[in-house]
Amino acid sequence: MNAAKMSPRKPADSATMVSELMMPHQVNNLGHVFGGVVLSMVDRAAAVAAMRHSGHPSVTVSIDRVDFKEPIQSGEFVTCLAQVNFVGRTSMEVGVRVEAENLLSGVKRHTTSCLLTFVAIDRDHRPCEVPRLDISEPEDARRYREGQRRREVRELLDRELEAGEVGPRGKAAP
Ligand SMILES: CC(C)(COP(=O)(O)OP(=O)(O)OC[C@H]1O[C@@H](n2cnc3c(N)ncnc32)[C@H](O)[C@@H]1OP(=O)(O)O)[C@@H](O)C(=O)NCCC(=O)NCCS
Repeated sequence: MNAAKMSPRKPADSATMVSELMMPHQVNNLGHVFGGVVLSMVDRAAAVAAMRHSGHPSVTVSIDRVDFKEPIQSGEFVTCLAQVNFVGRTSMEVGVRVEAENLLSGVKRHTTSCLLTFVAIDRDHRPCEVPRLDISEPEDARRYREGQRRREVRELLDRELEAGEVGPRGKAAP
């Protein structure tokens, strides 16, 4: 890998927007857009952000958190805004904000927030190193710290579950 390809990049360099007009076949009996439709858009936007950052094919390894804050209706114009928040050695946490726009009134609503982890892969489909993040902007530094903390907490919980210290296998279980 050449040095230029590995030079640090700003989160804004990975910023990605994916938009789609919601149609009647995408809603449930309540008239709300299926969560899976939104997640498909989120995954595609996040994948592009991860590939823009890493310069490698990048695969979803985990959808870490999804908050459906408000329903989306048929006829609304949905936009997913994705960018890399945090990077490890080969993994990247991508944050996605979803907005729904009523095209007649122009009103936009923040409907969904998601966090996903992607891994960059090489030609042999093995994880490969990604560039560092340039977090000189205070907002980028805050997002980076939060991503780092989420990773620490996830790894701690994984270790506790592995050791049988939590839940049905642990001492605290009924
Ligand atoms: C992604 C994949 C290549 C990783 O391979 P692996 O052998 O598990 O890789 P490693 O254990 O070395 O982990 C690689 C990185 O992923 C991270 N990672 C692994 N599992 C993770 C999880 N569940 N959540 C978050 N990060 C995870 C590791 O922490 C590591 O990060 P780092 O390099 O920044 O420290 C492999 O799991 C895979 O191919 N998964 C299927 C991906 C796919 O098909 N996605 C589409 C969804 S259908």
